[in-house]
Amino acid sequence: AANATWGEGNWRESGGGGTVWDSIVYDEGLNQLYFGVGNGNPWNHGLRSGGEGDNLFLSSIVAVNPDTGKYLWHYQETPAETWDYTATQHIIQAELEIDGKMRKVLYHAPKNGFFFVIDRLDGTLISAEPFVDGINWAEGYDLTTGRPIENPDARFYKTGKPFIAIPGALGAHNWHPMSYNPKTGLVYIPAQQIPQGYDVPVSDIDKKRERLGFNVGIGWAIGQLPDDKDVYKAAVAATTGRLVAFNPKTGKVEWSVDYPAAWNGGTMTTAGNLVFQGTSTGLFKAYSADKGIELLSLPMQSGIVSAPSTYMIGGEQYVAFLTSKGGAFPLVAGVAGGVTRQLPNIPRLVVLKLGGKTSLPPLPKKDEVIWDPPVQSGTPEKIAAGKALFGRNCMVCHGDSAIGNGFTPDLRVSGVLPDTEAWASVVIGGALKHAGMVGFGSQLKAEQVENIRHYVVNRSIWTKENLPEMTAPTPR
Ligand code: HEC
Repeated sequence: AANATWGEGNWRESGGGGTVWDSIVYDEGLNQLYFGVGNGNPWNHGLRSGGEGDNLFLSSIVAVNPDTGKYLWHYQETPAETWDYTATQHIIQAELEIDGKMRKVLYHAPKNGFFFVIDRLDGTLISAEPFVDGINWAEGYDLTTGRPIENPDARFYKTGKPFIAIPGALGAHNWHPMSYNPKTGLVYIPAQQIPQGYDVPVSDIDKKRERLGFNVGIGWAIGQLPDDKDVYKAAVAATTGRLVAFNPKTGKVEWSVDYPAAWNGGTMTTAGNLVFQGTSTGLFKAYSADKGIELLSLPMQSGIVSAPSTYMIGGEQYVAFLTSKGGAFPLVAGVAGGVTRQLPNIPRLVVLKLGGKTSLPPLPKKDEVIWDPPVQSGTPEKIAAGKALFGRNCMVCHGDSAIGNGFTPDLRVSGVLPDTEAWASVVIGGALKHAGMVGFGSQLKAEQVENIRHYVVNRSIWTKENLPEMTAPTPR
């Protein structure tokens, strides 16, 4: 069944994607198992499948019989997926009254920005309504066909023109768990807005599948910000978070809370009419579940991305969560990480209870960062070549425009940046392989690695001259 939905493309070589990297859910009542399936690989549907076919079962929910493994039904949320819109997010089982009849349904809020209510008996789409603002890849869903009504400009590989998508690849909702409160009937979604530019690959560098590097088949030159102060500021302003209390019955947002940065923690809701959530800006919050009134906001020194949990011991209730910045977003975000970039990364388990007396230990002291860029090396052509290579090979761990995040070194202030040989010993020779920085010698030539260095020098100078405060290197 899947094979007929794939065209001619490099999926035969790459595998095509479709990893099931998050929740697999068992439905006890119906004896069914639900999988949320991931995005296509490479992302570019033009390269992956020649621009043809829906590519089942990418970006779908698939139900199977747990005893036999036999296929039962599927619903594909994003046919012919090309924006990294996974459908791996948590699947919540609920019962919902529709036209006076109780239906067994599942709730799903995947990366693509729509909240899905799906019939658990046969996978029929009941509703698909936006849970965030500004979605521009599709205007909604046709409930008779179950398919999105797409914006043709969104298929960049067909138009040949770049497209800035909302949501972007990091999703309107990523892996941070959402929670459902049967008492309020609301689902609490850690939502976000992280726009992203998609472009057709302009060079073989982006098209080719390599052993190292980010093999997604899109052009990375526009993936990074251009030399324009206003664009940098706009990127920070456009990257935000929101706690959304969504009502699946009405298909509307009941209440919401805006946060200044994306990548906030998962949510947890209790029978005591509470919703708990930590933020990437380092606050642990509690709200009333029905109205969204803030009841608690505790500074936690570091970001929070985990979902809290709760338990009772001897009649006393505890709330536990992990702090630390963590995850793909802070690594890749660059300036769009906003205020969260400056927070230290402190991995810590925090447990709260009513009347708890302990306070956090003082913050560890960090060395001051000396930001003294080397003189510019390399011609504009070499810098441009370095930018494309950086986007393809380095950005995912060292940040858009080489703006660091506090986990991996900020390359703009690296001790090896001024020196061709020292730079090459790490980037080609793998001198820091033991610490997670593999050598790219098997794939990049000395000249290419030197062009990346020219580009990073350029970033160090430009960001310091133009936006010194907004882009200041973060101590590790
Ligand atoms: C998978 C993640 C990852 C990728 C991709 C990556 N790096 Fe790194 N890089 C790291 C980590 C982790 C370190 C820090 C190792 C340590 O703690 O010493 C590092 C360190 C470095 C350093 C040393 C900086 C210093 O001051 O110690 C340089 C230079 C560097 N990387 C350049 C690059 C370049 C250039 C690319 C792309 C060709 C790249 N890295 C791709 C993870 C990555």
